[in-house]
Amino acid sequence: MENEDGLAVEGLSKTYTNGVRALQNVTLKVRPGMYGLLGPNGAGKSTLMRTLATLQEPDEGTFSLDGLDGRKDPDGLRRRLGYLPQQIGTYPGVTGRGLLERFAWLKGRTDPKERRAEVGLLLEQVNLDDVAHRQVTTYSGGMLRRFGIALALIGRPRLLIVDEPTAGLDPAERNRFHRVLADVAADSVVLLSTHIVEDVDNLCERLSILADGKIVAEGTPDELRAPLKGRLWTRLIPRKEPPPSDVLHLAAAPAGVRVVVEGDSPPEPAYEAHPPRLEDVYHHALRHTKVAA
Ligand SMILES: Nc1ncnc2c1ncn2[C@@H]1O[C@H](COP(=O)(O)OP(=O)(O)OP(=O)(O)O)[C@@H](O)[C@H]1O
Ligand SMILES: [Mg+2]
Repeated sequence: MENEDGLAVEGLSKTYTNGVRALQNVTLKVRPGMYGLLGPNGAGKSTLMRTLATLQEPDEGTFSLDGLDGRKDPDGLRRRLGYLPQQIGTYPGVTGRGLLERFAWLKGRTDPKERRAEVGLLLEQVNLDDVAHRQVTTYSGGMLRRFGIALALIGRPRLLIVDEPTAGLDPAERNRFHRVLADVAADSVVLLSTHIVEDVDNLCERLSILADGKIVAEGTPDELRAPLKGRLWTRLIPRKEPPPSDVLHLAAAPAGVRVVVEGDSPPEPAYEAHPPRLEDVYHHALRHTKVAA
């Protein structure tokens, strides 16, 4: 059915045995395309992603992909899933191509010709064909990340979950990685978690901000920025002067700190209008939760 296209998450909750309520009634609808998940450390992003990847069970709630129920049929969901965890393991003694071939075999690519062809295409897609003969343990951080995405892409997943994939990548690697994700998002759901607000702004049609296991904001970057239009003010405060108490956020600048405040009008004439960025939305959304930004 058309309206079941994509990922639907309904009332997902999870409390760990130590009492941490990592997810609290999370409900989401994600259409094919790139979807961003933002949130501070400990917000529950990885918990949500591991749950959707069927690696752990929620206490409550359901989720489905193109109408297929992930809790009733986890095997069916896994066949349509690619998952790149926050930390990827390394495998000593195996070449990049060798490891991809093994995983492809595990995913049911039993025909050697088909398997080789798919692995060849994946290596090209992530731009690792020239190092495919090298052992995976010799890859740089960036290569390893791109290799991880190739692993996750075996079998052309309908849902690709990538948990903070660009941490530690240089700008060129990050761009390359983003282009691969954007390719995949042309016909699959790509769920991307990150701390880099700017990446979500550039890449994602929609996003959620998660805090304390709850979704505190959801929408397109423009929709989320709209309520803050004309309400933000900024000023560079010299190092000796204390910043005002009620700031949305402050950032170090060469001559002091740049503060951003919210209000109907500038608090003092020295403040100038500040067009809202997604980062301001992020701080604004978190301000109304217990969690420190
Ligand atoms: N296996 C576990 N057992 C107990 N508590 C856990 C476990 N995994 C995560 N938590 C807790 O659940 C909460 C959510 O953690 P989670 O890893 O999902 O957050 P996150 O948003 O991915 O954070 P980060 O940005 O640091 O990766 C945290 O308070 C964390 O300490
Ligand atoms: Mg995490």
